[in-house]
Amino acid sequence: MRGGVSRRTVLGAAAAGMLMPALGADAPLRTLAASRGKLFGCAAGSYQLKDADFAAALVRETNILVPEYELKRLIVEPEPGRFDFSGADALAGFAANHGMKMRGHTLIWYAANPPWLENKVLHAPDDEILTDFVSRSMGRYRGRFHSWDVVNEAIFPDDGRPDGLRNCAWLKRFGPGYIDLAFHTAKRADPEALLVYNDWGCEGGEAWNDRFRSATLKFLEGAKARGVPIEALGLQGHLNGYGPPIDQKKLRLFLDAVRAMGLAILVTELDVDETKAPLDSAVRDRAVADATARFLDVVLDNPATCAVLTWGLSDRYLHKPDGLRAALSGYSPRKLPLDADLRRKPMWSAISRAFTRSA
Ligand code: XIL
Repeated sequence: MRGGVSRRTVLGAAAAGMLMPALGADAPLRTLAASRGKLFGCAAGSYQLKDADFAAALVRETNILVPEYELKRLIVEPEPGRFDFSGADALAGFAANHGMKMRGHTLIWYAANPPWLENKVLHAPDDEILTDFVSRSMGRYRGRFHSWDVVNEAIFPDDGRPDGLRNCAWLKRFGPGYIDLAFHTAKRADPEALLVYNDWGCEGGEAWNDRFRSATLKFLEGAKARGVPIEALGLQGHLNGYGPPIDQKKLRLFLDAVRAMGLAILVTELDVDETKAPLDSAVRDRAVADATARFLDVVLDNPATCAVLTWGLSDRYLHKPDGLRAALSGYSPRKLPLDADLRRKPMWSAISRAFTRSA
């Protein structure tokens, strides 16, 4: 065929058009995200896969999963040298069977560790207690995971260090370089995975968030200058539906600075706390949706944002808080996109609109 468009190209384009229906307002979040070249997903536990309705909702709405707790050291290495990846394997198998991606959370953290770990870290004769776990966990899924939260919550300006780092056992034993070591080890363990530094203090509009954001930028700039292979920033996104509103201008400037360093951005654990809300669920749902929109509208405006994950898909598996108020009032949390009956809530609509508003 000379000069014109080949018949194969025309037929291919027509078929593609048929396969890509116009994205209606009720299109699944995974479809809306994909239409902008992004991912939408959530945290899950392997036990939830036994709930057929819930598993169907995961497949309908998400295209990336993260284990809420089954890749944390507390679960993976309950005793020194004894490893259990069964939960994460089940989730990874489910994701693979349904054409979904997986991400890992988390490798080096001050929390969710087995009781024996801290003392071993503080008295470690060498850095194997860090490097072996990173290599083993990432090596098991090498080439299969979209990304890993290599280090979680290492920044905490209120600990008073000039570098703004959290004074955790890892830092006490190995110095600030433990973070660099973790990321260099991760790069060797799975060169294909996006390596993420994940934290929780950069979203809000209060003075302590300002300190958190500046400490985070200072940390990331220093790491990049040292050649540390940090490739993305994970914003956990644990928002407060009844706290001081997010300062969108401050968040936008912060994310622009992150992007200017050449980093990708992920929202890794989005949910909205509404425990201080009146009991009326419509009022709570509105506050949750408004906080979600205020946050995602800024985050998804930034081209470096590649994924949004909520910290669960449905309220069905959220723990009811202890306490008399909850018991007497029958309060149960409404922090996530679907309600306990898997119905889409205003938060779901806020995420849907955020993916489509500036498409
Ligand atoms: C939380 C889980 O949701 C809880 O089930 C668990 O008991 C404790 O950890 N930041 C993180 C997440 O990076 O791993 C935490 O998840 C919430 C705070």
